[in-house]
Amino acid sequence: MDALLTAIRLVLYILPSYFANSVPVVLGGGTTVDLGKKMGDGNRIFGDGKTIRGFFAGIAAALLIGSLQAILLPGTEWDIYDGNRASYVFAGLLLGIGTMLGDLVGSFIKRRQGILRGKPSLMLDQLMFFLFALLLSYPVCQHLFSIEAVAFLAVLTYFLHVGANVIANRLGLKSVPW
Ligand code: CTP
Ligand code: MG
Repeated sequence: MDALLTAIRLVLYILPSYFANSVPVVLGGGTTVDLGKKMGDGNRIFGDGKTIRGFFAGIAAALLIGSLQAILLPGTEWDIYDGNRASYVFAGLLLGIGTMLGDLVGSFIKRRQGILRGKPSLMLDQLMFFLFALLLSYPVCQHLFSIEAVAFLAVLTYFLHVGANVIANRLGLKSVPW
């Protein structure tokens, strides 16, 4: 299999996670996951940037992308789950849950480090959601994983995340470019 096809298949694999990570910027809001509660260190558990609606909107977005892939990809050379439509849907769900859990974990660590909501933390912002997406999707997607594949996706995710936030800021969707 040539490198370009492998790269395309890996991007298709991670796509539900990217949607889960970006949709809450637009659809999030309302009650926060931590209900405004603080920890013993005086900082919020997760902060105002993590809302319940955003959490479920992210999972729903990943599920939707997985379902679209289940319709579109079987039978093509981009078919990553051997024609198994249920695997696409399940992978989408797992990637969505993993992404949103990892996003929460990232914010939790940021708050424990005293980093305020919305302030950047280079590795945590870009890679925590990715790490958890990989972990949770492992049962369905492990056949796609290799050292090279994970390294490729980590680098891609890092730079796409940085770039996407600059664009979201220019479009007025986010007040800060990270
Ligand atoms: N968002 C949300 N609910 C979530 C995750 C994200 O509503 N579970 C929305 C919030 O409006 C948030 C925006 O998406 O401000 C961007 O997400 P993110 O960059 O992860 O949050 P930050 O505001 O930067 O907060 P943190 O410092 O905790 O990362
Ligand atoms: Mg942020």
